[in-house]
Amino acid sequence: MNGRAWQLLHLLSDGEFHSGEDLAREMDVSRATVFNDLSSAMEEGVQLQRIRGRGYRLPHGWQPLDKNDIGRFLGDSAARFAIEVALQIPSSNTELLRRTGMQSGTVLAAELQTAGRGRLGRQWHSGLGNALTFSLIWRFDCGLNALSGLSLAVGVAVMRALDRFGAKDAGLKWPNDILTRHGKLGGVLIEAQGDMYGPSLAVIGIGINCSLPAVVTRAIDQPADALDRICENPPGRNEFLAALLRELALVLDEFSRNGFAALRGQWEEHHVHRNSRVFLSMPDGTEVGGIARGVSDSGELVLETAQGLRRYNAGEVGMRS
Ligand code: BTN
Repeated sequence: MNGRAWQLLHLLSDGEFHSGEDLAREMDVSRATVFNDLSSAMEEGVQLQRIRGRGYRLPHGWQPLDKNDIGRFLGDSAARFAIEVALQIPSSNTELLRRTGMQSGTVLAAELQTAGRGRLGRQWHSGLGNALTFSLIWRFDCGLNALSGLSLAVGVAVMRALDRFGAKDAGLKWPNDILTRHGKLGGVLIEAQGDMYGPSLAVIGIGINCSLPAVVTRAIDQPADALDRICENPPGRNEFLAALLRELALVLDEFSRNGFAALRGQWEEHHVHRNSRVFLSMPDGTEVGGIARGVSDSGELVLETAQGLRRYNAGEVGMRS
């Protein structure tokens, strides 16, 4: 999608119909150019309505990400972050992994990810404006081996931000999925680099569904949920991103000082499978069954198995229906 197509999408962000003629006039281009640019946006997965006689419309509107708005919502914490908004990139994690020389607190938020990545090689699907997708660089003095509970700590920050907006019914699935009883609300992808004994750096990628248009639901291969369903007054994406960053700064400071042990109790309060019978599918194809009892100080899942309490640091948790 070219820059002009993005300008057109900004003109359409109010969710109202705009005729091709009006758009062409505002942009000082021909109607054919408007048609071609908006067709390319649709090819990139932007959901646009085009109705003869009425024009074009983004059916759900779009609140663009705005660096200044995010900074305003961040208040005192703004100095800790350097924020960039990218219109269209394959993946904010992939992009920040190419920029690891940048300062701690660098944030890259994407309007549209064309190849969003999830854990275990999965894809992360989102459309224009329906999700918050961003990555953050954070530096640690400790070594890579001390980062083992980091992804769970990030889950705690997400839960705290959700609590601030009165989100109902959300919890954490080990290691760091954010779930409601209707499905997945968000996920965390952490990619770390550095020395075994320090220093180290993490690219922390977070994706949260803010709304779920049918076109996105169809692309996702599992039940999903969204912020606009679980919050009575859902925050805008700029406000929610700022809230997440504030909580992340607090949680990551705590993690740097005292490790995951200091956050473990909070993680367990939100554990959706606590004391439930689960099975853990291991990367080698084997399966372990047991009762989920919580997590260890370094973020491993603790299962009560027939052989007693066991800790696991890999695998995918499931429940039999
Ligand atoms: C998962 O649940 O498997 C993790 C999903 C993480 C998605 C986010 S969206 C922002 C960042 N960029 C990516 O490509 N992935 C993460």
